[in-house]
Amino acid sequence: MEQFIDTLPKVELHVHLEGTLEPALMFRLAERNGIDLPYPDVDSVRAAYEFKDLQSFLNLYYNGARVLQTEQDFYDLTWAYLRRCADENVVHTEMFFDPQTHTERGIPFETVVRGIARARADAEAQLGLSTGLILCFLRDLSEESAIETFRTALPWREHFVGIGLDSAETGHPPEKFERVFAMVRDEGFHIVAHAGEEGPPEYIWQAVRRLGVERVDHGVQCTGDAELVEHLRRAQTPLTVCPLANVKLKVFDRIEEHNLPRLLEAGLKVTINSDDPAYFGGYMNANFRAVAQAFDLDRDTLRGFTRNAIDTAFVDDQRRRELYALLDAA
Ligand code: HPA
Ligand code: ZN
Repeated sequence: MEQFIDTLPKVELHVHLEGTLEPALMFRLAERNGIDLPYPDVDSVRAAYEFKDLQSFLNLYYNGARVLQTEQDFYDLTWAYLRRCADENVVHTEMFFDPQTHTERGIPFETVVRGIARARADAEAQLGLSTGLILCFLRDLSEESAIETFRTALPWREHFVGIGLDSAETGHPPEKFERVFAMVRDEGFHIVAHAGEEGPPEYIWQAVRRLGVERVDHGVQCTGDAELVEHLRRAQTPLTVCPLANVKLKVFDRIEEHNLPRLLEAGLKVTINSDDPAYFGGYMNANFRAVAQAFDLDRDTLRGFTRNAIDTAFVDDQRRRELYALLDAA
């Protein structure tokens, strides 16, 4: 099964670029930029990655992101992740980035976008994979800040396919961002949002009904509302499930307790993703292996995760056909 998973073409729809910052690169960039890290070495960074919930993770994650300063830093970050994708047979990936995490520290928006764009271009040319970029608003900041970010981003619009919503979920419901997502819709972007990672089913309803999301990021809390599950099944709204992330952030205590089997039994359109692989202990293959082993999933189910992701990727018809062909040939 391990070999089957390694060679299976995979499509990732939920990964935060800032969450691919490996401790070794964090140290290298800290040194390059003269930034003090609160850790003596790489091993103690890893040892600090014990989280009790989403917020305890976000504190470390935003602290780690401070080492990202220059266009080259964003290039190096993105390139390292895309190399890893190529190694793991990830043939298409749609990456989140959080501009406010950087602009709030005085890093210009264009520094971030330029570095990421150059790495994407190199990866597409040299590694043969396709990529998309999704700009996320931080939900613990104000809607005004999201609107300002969106205005700053618009001149760079050819660089991203969609807009999302992430960061601290509890107390920051999707409806807080209804006006900015109306602007986003008017501009014709794809829309996604984190909802139902820790937050209640009501937040998933809001993401669907009030923001108009095409995919729900995480969404695992939907099983607390039978009517919602039925809605998501009928609409075949994709859920970008991140199994190892859910265990690391104690949404489920153990992988065996993850509700993936319930989601599948309910007929929901599930994809498997890595979220913040440098922090949660695994990229795509590790996530596939974890669920395959915990739930004794067969090959058709694993192939189905890739098929679902291809169905819902923000790509043009030609690339979608190519991705199906890669899967069929495997
Ligand atoms: N949830 C919410 N926001 C995030 C996450 C997550 O898992 N990772 C990075 N930002
Ligand atoms: Zn996420």
